Amino acid sequence: MEKRLLRTLPSLASEPECYLIYDKAVAPFAAQLLAGGAFRGSLALSISDAGKTMDTVLDICRYLMESGATRQALVVALGGGTLTDMAGFAAAIYKRGIRYANIPTTLLAQVDAGIGGKTGVNLDGYKNMIGAFRQPEWVWLWPVVLSTLPAREFRCGLAELLKTFLVADASLYASAVHFFAASSSNMPVFEDESWEMVSPSSNSAFSEDRTPFSDSPSSKLPVSEDELMDWVYRAAEIKAGITERDLYETGERRKLNLGHTFAHAIEYVASQRGDDIRHGEAVSMGIILAARLSEASLAERLAADFAACGLPVACPYPMEALVEAMNRDKKGEAEGVRFVLLRRIGETEEKVLRPEELLRLL
Ligand SMILES: NC(=O)c1ccc[n+]([C@@H]2O[C@H](COP(=O)([O-])OP(=O)(O)OC[C@H]3O[C@@H](n4cnc5c(N)ncnc54)[C@H](O)[C@@H]3O)[C@@H](O)[C@H]2O)c1
Ligand SMILES: [Zn+2]
Repeated sequence: MEKRLLRTLPSLASEPECYLIYDKAVAPFAAQLLAGGAFRGSLALSISDAGKTMDTVLDICRYLMESGATRQALVVALGGGTLTDMAGFAAAIYKRGIRYANIPTTLLAQVDAGIGGKTGVNLDGYKNMIGAFRQPEWVWLWPVVLSTLPAREFRCGLAELLKTFLVADASLYASAVHFFAASSSNMPVFEDESWEMVSPSSNSAFSEDRTPFSDSPSSKLPVSEDELMDWVYRAAEIKAGITERDLYETGERRKLNLGHTFAHAIEYVASQRGDDIRHGEAVSMGIILAARLSEASLAERLAADFAACGLPVACPYPMEALVEAMNRDKKGEAEGVRFVLLRRIGETEEKVLRPEELLRLL
């Protein structure tokens, strides 16, 4: 198993200088960590995609500088992918690079964004345009943080979790669909959906047995915490393995972009039209569209699977709008647009398609 993926919080007692950078939305969990006494200080940030900018990264750097952080410092990032991307980037550039570690608090960040060392921010509305590769020292998958996650965020993470199995392991994919489809009826589906906030004090990070899998009694997750974490670890280990082998995304790692060429186009069109579509939702629709480029029967099967798990599968935009968006995206190449496609479940291939071919195939 990937050495950096941890089931328990490592001892911070030997760390000379630890700073906690956290998302205000998870302040109760931050308070619990800070109560352990290992941190020199902390910085709370309000998180939004609009605020995922160089200015916020500079705020983190300024905070570290004013706190007197040296090159020995360890930055611990507690939050979803927006926070871990920014804190990781600040760590990558502060004093030419210091160590950081992640405690991801969304399902998406636990299986995807918090692992693999891609850090960065948006620039002038272009997503993740500047950043750096820098591996976290460790990633602690703290189960109880997911108990406060809104249902919509849970679904976004589920799309990336299923994607990981789709590109790597057919039997895990089938079992995961079976598991999550059975529990999808427990998932709220409306806009104001949310699970009741639970008190994180029910599962202390510093308790003696540090059992990461104990269910919090008041959690409103649609599945039990321990079963969910088994799936999280399986997906996180696959991603960690792939990124260890191909840190800079020159080969194998690219397969994790399944559905993402479409997803980025869907997100762009949504932002142009003022529609609210989250990345994970776009990925869910994008995977179905990518499957259509492989084989109609595969696309039908995946659409049925994803819908059964409560994920959105129908893209609301015309293909012409998506193709136009792809041509301006960073993945656009001179001869066409590059896609990761499924040869079959568990196995991918890459294809570059020209716009007219795309429109013919879809
Ligand atoms: N570095 C990578 O490899 C990588 C991969 C995928 C995505 N990303 C990036 O990750 C970001 C998306 O991250 P995300 O999906 O984790 O969402 P996020 O960090 O934007 O968080 C989503 C919302 O949930 C809140 N939140 C976070 N944890 C919570 C919790 N436990 N309880 C209640 N609310 C909580 C946040 O405050 C925010 O409002 C994007 O910026 C994307 O570019 C990076
Ligand atoms: Zn993604």
